[in-house]
Amino acid sequence: MKKLIIKNASELVTCRGKAPKKGSDMSNIGIIYNGSVVIEDGIIVDVDEAVNISSRYDESEYEVIDASEKAVLPGFIDSHTHLIFGGYRADEFSWRLRGDTYMSIMERGGGITSSVRATRSTVLEEFVETGRKRLDKMMAFGVTTVEGKSGYGLDEETEIRQLEAMRILNESHPVDIAATFLGPHSVLPEWKGKEDEFIDYMIEVMKKVRERNLAEFADIFCEKNVFSIEQSRRFLKSAKEMGLKLKIHADEIVRLGGAELAAELGAVSADHLLQASDEGIRMMAEKDVVATLLPATAFCLKEDYARVRDIIDSGCAVALATDFNPGSCFTNSIPLVIALAAIQMRMSVEEIITALTINAASALSRQDSIGSIEAGKKADIIILEFPSIHFLPYHAGVNIVETVIKNGVVVK
Ligand code: NIG
Ligand code: FE
Repeated sequence: MKKLIIKNASELVTCRGKAPKKGSDMSNIGIIYNGSVVIEDGIIVDVDEAVNISSRYDESEYEVIDASEKAVLPGFIDSHTHLIFGGYRADEFSWRLRGDTYMSIMERGGGITSSVRATRSTVLEEFVETGRKRLDKMMAFGVTTVEGKSGYGLDEETEIRQLEAMRILNESHPVDIAATFLGPHSVLPEWKGKEDEFIDYMIEVMKKVRERNLAEFADIFCEKNVFSIEQSRRFLKSAKEMGLKLKIHADEIVRLGGAELAAELGAVSADHLLQASDEGIRMMAEKDVVATLLPATAFCLKEDYARVRDIIDSGCAVALATDFNPGSCFTNSIPLVIALAAIQMRMSVEEIITALTINAASALSRQDSIGSIEAGKKADIIILEFPSIHFLPYHAGVNIVETVIKNGVVVK
């Protein structure tokens, strides 16, 4: 049996709980000052003040990591990414810097369409190879679980190939991947005006995905000039009937009512929400839909940030994620997300940590097994090179994660 003690952490952030933290409870992160954690076979078995742990356990039987003068936290969870894709869109990024909008580039055949062309011509081995490098970088930022979406194939073969790549990576890389089928991610020129037929086709593809158990979640880009509320409702309802859990790209650019739809259908999360209405936010709080906010996307698109203070005050559980993708947000930087959330969105460091741990776990329906440091959960733990969580926003944009432990094993 592998046995590990992490001892004397100046701040041991537990985030304990097996449910998303809503509203003001997001600030309760359960810090133990001078704390220790006991791990056996990849599972946390005890968490307490260091004096109590040292009186209960014989250290000589354990591998010991001394975390004196260091803060220890649950591993970060990046609950919204599009990490498997072919090609890049650096040209579009410079057009946007010159003033073109995301939607105008999409309307002239760039955007997701351009990534679809590149993704269709990428073989499985290449997805796996680049995926592995991307996961390595994420892990170095302290990410121990990540969500990954398909959605750059938009045909059966390529959507399934993207999901297969995620399955291979999930089995062979330390970072866990929760896979999402995002077949209705865009309308290619050949499907313009035939969006309803495309939804029919994607429902057929989803059946195949389901038969092969390649995804846990279904997602759709519900947006003006992409998929309407009615099309999104139809697709997500059939996903639910097939036993998939629901996510939605909601109210990102235009206020369509995606937040309301997420609440109506009992989605696990609604993501983006830059334009979400008060009523939509209220309904999400009531129905326990996690609000996943993606500040790096707003930053890269030069949009206003989501109204996080209103969303938290309405009693919602907020998660933060990168939205790493080749178009709107080509960054998987957790330090950037933390800096934007703290400085631009005015979230407290406690709220940010909750949003990247237990609430992000809840956005993946994994709040029972990850997202906090407490007995019974997986030992997914990070150690910072500084003694306090306050260094996370203070050392703006810099990665201060020194050690990453996944399932009780040091992986960085
Ligand atoms: O979450 N909004 C839709 N999907 C992605 C962008 C994908 C892309 O531009 O390639 C997003 O921002
Ligand atoms: Fe996205």
